[in-house]
Amino acid sequence: MKIAFFDTKPYDLTYFEPMGKEAGIQFKFYETKLNENTASLARGCDGVCAFVNDVVTAAVIDALCDIGVRILALRCAGFNNVDMRHAEGKLTVVRVPAYSPYAVAEHAMALLLTSIRRIHKAYIRTRDYNFSLNNMVGFDLHGKTVGIVGTGKIGRVFADICKGFGMKILAYDKYPSPLEGVSYVPLDQLLRESDIISLHCPLTEESRHLIGYDTLPILKKGVVIINTSRGGLINAEALLEGIKSRQIGAACLDVYEEEGDLFYEDNSGHILEDDVLARLISMPNVIVTSHQAFLTSDALYNIAETTVANLVSFRETGTCENEILLSHL
Ligand code: NAI
Repeated sequence: MKIAFFDTKPYDLTYFEPMGKEAGIQFKFYETKLNENTASLARGCDGVCAFVNDVVTAAVIDALCDIGVRILALRCAGFNNVDMRHAEGKLTVVRVPAYSPYAVAEHAMALLLTSIRRIHKAYIRTRDYNFSLNNMVGFDLHGKTVGIVGTGKIGRVFADICKGFGMKILAYDKYPSPLEGVSYVPLDQLLRESDIISLHCPLTEESRHLIGYDTLPILKKGVVIINTSRGGLINAEALLEGIKSRQIGAACLDVYEEEGDLFYEDNSGHILEDDVLARLISMPNVIVTSHQAFLTSDALYNIAETTVANLVSFRETGTCENEILLSHL
């Protein structure tokens, strides 16, 4: 089985190369992202393996089908980057539904603690022998209210971590299921009452810009917003407004709506064209990481293992339990 592997990073090779070899899968690794211009690189392959910022439009799907590709193996959980309606009946699309909810939930907490205890500032100061504590006052998490939007695999782990800190936990989920120590409330109540809001729901038409101009006025003054889910959940311009007006006290962003051409790449020698992102990054109370919440050795191992198992299952049976069906939309 031959698979064209797009958007390859060095850490992908470490895990995919040996596991592929053992399973009789030959990966052809390409650094470029999958798009209309690069789809032809998959000629002669049975399938393609893509990641979060490979945008799989209807045109890409048609181009892949034309050259005989039969399976798209996403090595991630989210699939908002794939035109699933167009793929139906043409291309089997599989994913890795869970690889380490701990990696993402722990990163969300790492961002929160870094932000509110000013660790990022302290790290820079003490390297310059600046031991002043001015402007370093934080606040306790104990007793504060955290609002979790989406209590699936990652949201639940984040709730457990917050319980350990002695926080009061509010949650909103489209399909709530009872969780000890967690109070489900309507979304607007969560937005009004939370000192900290952490987003863990998928990006859909319904959840797009869940934090935006409409919701900004009802947020508790000084709220800390954490987004480790998908950039489109937040309208970045509205977020910037909220930061400038002091309505939002801090933002911790692992994802950004327009991250596609920027994140995962070294742009340090370039002039950033995205003024909103540049302004956000310039704020003392905004921390940005470049979609790295998943990036632990444990998660990478699990991603490679499940992706290879998905491909083997498709090769041997023509089906796969991790196939994305239209009913998942
Ligand atoms: P999951 O599918 O286990 O849980 C998602 C939860 O969101 C479900 O309980 C679902 O009922 C709920 N939900 C769906 N639509 C909703 C809406 N409109 N409002 C509120 N809740 C809604 O997914 P999991 O594994 O917990 O992942 C959550 C998200 O994290 C993924 O969608 C993905 O976008 C993101 N992610 C980010 C990573 C990173 O590296 N930053 C890595 C992995 C996932």
